[in-house]
Amino acid sequence: MSKIHAVVLAAGQGTRMKSKLHKVLHPVCGKPMVQHVIDTMASMQVENMIVVVGHGADSVRAELGEGVTYAMQEKQMGTAHAVQQAAPFLQGKQGTTFLLYGDVPLLSKQTLTDLLRYHESQQAAATVLTAVLPDPTGYGRIIRDEAGEVLRIVEHKDATEAERAVREINTGIYCVDNQKLWDALAEVKNDNAQGEYYLTDCVAILRERGEKVVGFAAADPEETMGINDRVQLADAEAYLRRRIAVEHMRNGVTIVDPSSTYIEADVTIGADTIIQPGTFLRGRTTIGSDCVIGPQADLRDVTVADQVTIHYAVMAEASIERESTVGPYAYVRPGTEIGPHVKVGDFVELKNAKIKEGSKVPHLSYVGDAEIGANVNIGCGTITVNYDGAVKHKTVVEDGAFIGCNTNLVAPVTVGQNAYVAAGSTIHLDVPANALAIARERQVNKLDYADKMPRKGKKQS
Ligand code: UD1
Ligand code: CA
Repeated sequence: MSKIHAVVLAAGQGTRMKSKLHKVLHPVCGKPMVQHVIDTMASMQVENMIVVVGHGADSVRAELGEGVTYAMQEKQMGTAHAVQQAAPFLQGKQGTTFLLYGDVPLLSKQTLTDLLRYHESQQAAATVLTAVLPDPTGYGRIIRDEAGEVLRIVEHKDATEAERAVREINTGIYCVDNQKLWDALAEVKNDNAQGEYYLTDCVAILRERGEKVVGFAAADPEETMGINDRVQLADAEAYLRRRIAVEHMRNGVTIVDPSSTYIEADVTIGADTIIQPGTFLRGRTTIGSDCVIGPQADLRDVTVADQVTIHYAVMAEASIERESTVGPYAYVRPGTEIGPHVKVGDFVELKNAKIKEGSKVPHLSYVGDAEIGANVNIGCGTITVNYDGAVKHKTVVEDGAFIGCNTNLVAPVTVGQNAYVAAGSTIHLDVPANALAIARERQVNKLDYADKMPRKGKKQS
């Protein structure tokens, strides 16, 4: 197989988004649309990945990082002119080049692979990915010859009535022999309705040289949808959300109601896990097998092991090991590591807390900047007092300790192994292992107090 290169066009302005954010950076299922294009393409062993930037170049670079090569198109003079900016990186190289748009994010690896296979099997100089649309208005039309090969592409604005009647359109995605591409591009002129350098003119140029150009119709035209405004953005989101859910379901995940479940593109889920309605799985979240997630769970960048239950919870940048439970109504914040067989119950907030095997934080607690050992019980209403107004301090509770209800642990402080803390204590000194700490006012009972008090309904003397 020959080498593969890719040029992704992302220099256009995208005015119809009416946004401060550059069009190709708008997320679809949690990932910038241009990143979808790059990731899908990258999964095909690409030798060179060139992104052509122009409008919003700095923000696109900042978002995509150093993994790709950038070509700058200072002025947007048409799609051929855009591709030409990649010449310094690709000219003279052997291989097949994919030409893609940064605002066409739904293309699947399958479609790109099928396009490449067809291109190779036809031994064509160029293969155009086409789509047959009920309403082709606005798109370039595919003009085929008697043999069914592509003769040329005519832009809507330059087309005759007869050409406008053609419903097979140019998606703007191509596979081209790399050397032939640069030769053809050099000949493109801008004598057309828009005064632009049309990439589509390469088709006729190649044909005049006796080269073969073919068209490959996308099995699902929706995949080739370009995004120009926020209505199309929402359409793309819905399409991709469904595709992601279907893939998980085919892999053995139960999604009770896909229409109310939001799973981003890079999330992984193990078999026999059940995703209940109202669940958001975002970023680099990974879920193991045999879990129950939701109803109403919002997880971003969370690593979940097998047989974990999470419901009515918000979690971010955290991990949770096997057979643990979180929720209902828990808020698990960044830096938290929940061990195996741990219970994090209702109205519990954890932040940067490490909780070891078998421990319980069953209700109404705040545990922040803390290390909780194994088999610890954190009583209802426990608070780690971690902040002195300037600096955060650490709380350590060692294995087997028992923290009574409504305790304040004023950090920095350590409660030793198997120690007890009496309910209602404010602990600011370390508690030795095996000790009982009581830090509260002694109770005083004033006898017959009621008799001395005036009371409703009681005659006063
Ligand atoms: C282009 C095709 C048309 C096809 C349609 C599919 C040409 C001449 N026409 O038309 O046949 O049906 O796409 O959507 O190629 N871009 C740059 N720099 C430029 C111009 C464009 O980077 O100077 C980028 C845009 O950001 C966009 C893509 O290229 O991602 C397509 O540009 P656009 O202006 O939308 O092309 P169309 O006129 O719609
Ligand atoms: Ca367009």
